[in-house]
Amino acid sequence: MKKTYICTAIPYANGYPHIGHVLDYLLADVYARYRRELGDEVRFQVGTDEHGNKVFRKAQSSELTIEEYTTANSNRFREFIDRLDVTYTDFVRTTDPEHMRRCQEIWRRLSDHIYLNEYHGWYCEGCEGFVTEKEYAENHGICPDHQRPYQKLSEQNYYLRIADFKDAIREKILNNEMEILPAFRRQEALKMLEDAPDISISRPVGELSWGVPVPGDESQVMYVWLDALSNYITILGYPDSEYESDFREWWPADVQFVGKDILRFHAITWPAILLGLGLKLPRRIVSHGFVLANGQKMSKTIGNVIDPLEVLESHGLEAFRYFFLRHVDTFADSDFTWAKYEEAYNNELANDLGNLVQRLATLCQKNQFSGVTSADRIIDQAYCDFMNKFEFTKALDLTWQKIQNINQSIDQTKPWELAKRGDVAKLHDVLHNLVEQLLTVASLLQPFLPDTATNIYNIFSASEIKVPASPLFPKNK
Ligand code: MSP
Repeated sequence: MKKTYICTAIPYANGYPHIGHVLDYLLADVYARYRRELGDEVRFQVGTDEHGNKVFRKAQSSELTIEEYTTANSNRFREFIDRLDVTYTDFVRTTDPEHMRRCQEIWRRLSDHIYLNEYHGWYCEGCEGFVTEKEYAENHGICPDHQRPYQKLSEQNYYLRIADFKDAIREKILNNEMEILPAFRRQEALKMLEDAPDISISRPVGELSWGVPVPGDESQVMYVWLDALSNYITILGYPDSEYESDFREWWPADVQFVGKDILRFHAITWPAILLGLGLKLPRRIVSHGFVLANGQKMSKTIGNVIDPLEVLESHGLEAFRYFFLRHVDTFADSDFTWAKYEEAYNNELANDLGNLVQRLATLCQKNQFSGVTSADRIIDQAYCDFMNKFEFTKALDLTWQKIQNINQSIDQTKPWELAKRGDVAKLHDVLHNLVEQLLTVASLLQPFLPDTATNIYNIFSASEIKVPASPLFPKNK
């Protein structure tokens, strides 16, 4: 059985999950379910990034200890991911002592590429990122993502010599050994690589205490990104020898899902770490766009932050998954508005799909047509092509086209007239065909709307087809 490892970025445990966090989980979950449908054994990592000053300072302003604070927030993320019915297999916490111990071993193994130096330059605590003079000048001293002035740092740090790996990283991006999707992000990554300086991978304890201690130097703590990126392999047991064979079976990751704002860390820092360890690079990095609210970046200051739980509660999980997978483009920035959400629910879920299920079930029940049991697996080539390229919105467009075709087909074949004429053989033929088409739709929906797909199977493969007591997507709920 093919083993497929899927990874997601781990959010900072410094607050509640927001609507922007859902993309990593939903994209990865759809892909995981799809790969399982095709017969793969899937390992699927999620987790929380709990070290660093950004988290530490937020904890200090709460009444909790740092441990209580990160545990509470990590649990919130886990509950949220569970509510989205995300089929992850592994949940990482970077404060887990096993993860921390493995990070220290990773550091030791990278030692040939590490040196100590003075850092005089800029830092953004929002990004937990060092900023070059060029970026500082381009952004006029203010982080465009966090709208905060960069901090001036002057400290001693350990550095990872990126120069040792630049050529290899470039080559692996160019020959798609590590494919970066979409193509325009690949170009962006190649450009960033050209200017990439060596990367600071520690901070003095005086500046950062909440992190993994640097082995052999008590005065330094690991930079949060080195600790966080390592999660993708420490969760597989790397580098403990007892997990080695298991690790080799799962690594490299088939795909890693990350937002566009953290592409740099995944396209440069992460490959450098892996190459330094003598490991393969992930096969694909999918860099998704941002979810915006009414065309703007969500921010507490603007007051346009959308609470994902409110969205979830309005029409349930299937509608939530549907919207973010059909109307939020995988790669480009997309807007969430309540109006769009309601429109998608009413027109596409309630009318197109929900009504079709009611309508066809009614025709079958009235005419004592018993269910079709041939389980149809995903065989639609065009659909698979989209899924393999992570073009999920297009896979759903195609599925909706099929839903509309069935609706039209009912109008054209007019089963009620065949019933009136008493043409039972023809009628059952027509119904059989329509039900089969709907079951195919259910199998295409499976990775996206798993409950809806199961409902459709249950209704139309039962020995006696019955009209569901309430429609799949009731209106004015
Ligand atoms: N902790 C780091 C990731 C470490 S991975 C080794 C981090 N955390 S985050 O909480 O800021 O972001 C977590 C994920 O959510 C990232 O993939 C990020 O791009 C994504 N998003 C955060 N806001 C987003 C939107 N508004 N829209 C879509 N995704 C966005 O970065």
